[in-house]
Amino acid sequence: MTPHNEAKLGDYADTVLLPGDPLRAKWIAENFLADVKQVNGVRNCLGYTGLWKGKPISVQATGMGQPSCAIYVHELLDVYKVKNLIRVGTCGGLHEKVKIRDVIIAISAATDSSMNDKFAPYHYAPFANFELLSKAAELSKKRKYTTHVASVVSSDVFYVPDGANSYGDLPNHGVLAVEMEASAIYTLAAQFDARALCICTMTDCLVSGDQIDAHQRQTSLTQMVELALDTANEAEPSS
Ligand code: HPA
Repeated sequence: MTPHNEAKLGDYADTVLLPGDPLRAKWIAENFLADVKQVNGVRNCLGYTGLWKGKPISVQATGMGQPSCAIYVHELLDVYKVKNLIRVGTCGGLHEKVKIRDVIIAISAATDSSMNDKFAPYHYAPFANFELLSKAAELSKKRKYTTHVASVVSSDVFYVPDGANSYGDLPNHGVLAVEMEASAIYTLAAQFDARALCICTMTDCLVSGDQIDAHQRQTSLTQMVELALDTANEAEPSS
């Protein structure tokens, strides 16, 4: 169907979870969804559709960084007419008030990427969908996860030269974490009149150097995926 996706029209559900890692997409499909079918395997960027609590949902890996992510997201929106995108990822902490394992629900995403300049001028401010965001925040607080509804920065660079200082004064302007995809997802969702949200678990702190251990990673990712799946099922569109 596209150069990067062999799925047929109708293979994706209206809502797609977006991990970066193809093997995480496989893990989500195999461990959370019922009646799963693989819909994409091109470049091993795996995509699946199945059921969560009886409702259809898909998961599609995006690869790392905005250029890769934007290819899959653009095609999901343009070709496959997907309506809701929920990124489930990890992020680096930029502020001491964010601790390892905390959940970041990205209300907006700053970026050092020039991608948005191709579409949206005026230093466009990419933003989350309100219904998805408020449902995720409500469920996350109910489950007693330490949750920050905050801005993130979607960086083009993973190996920055000077830790959290590489992001200047952003942490003092409500930008609490760094990841690499949210900005492109939010911009494309706005362009296609779709809903998008990015939920991240903080796995490495650029301020303290703390890192999540393997056991905590597994528990946290499980909680985040369940949060995203329930958000998808429960966040009704307002119109
Ligand atoms: N930088 C960018 N993306 C990330 C990081 C990071 O330190 N940790 C997890 N995702």
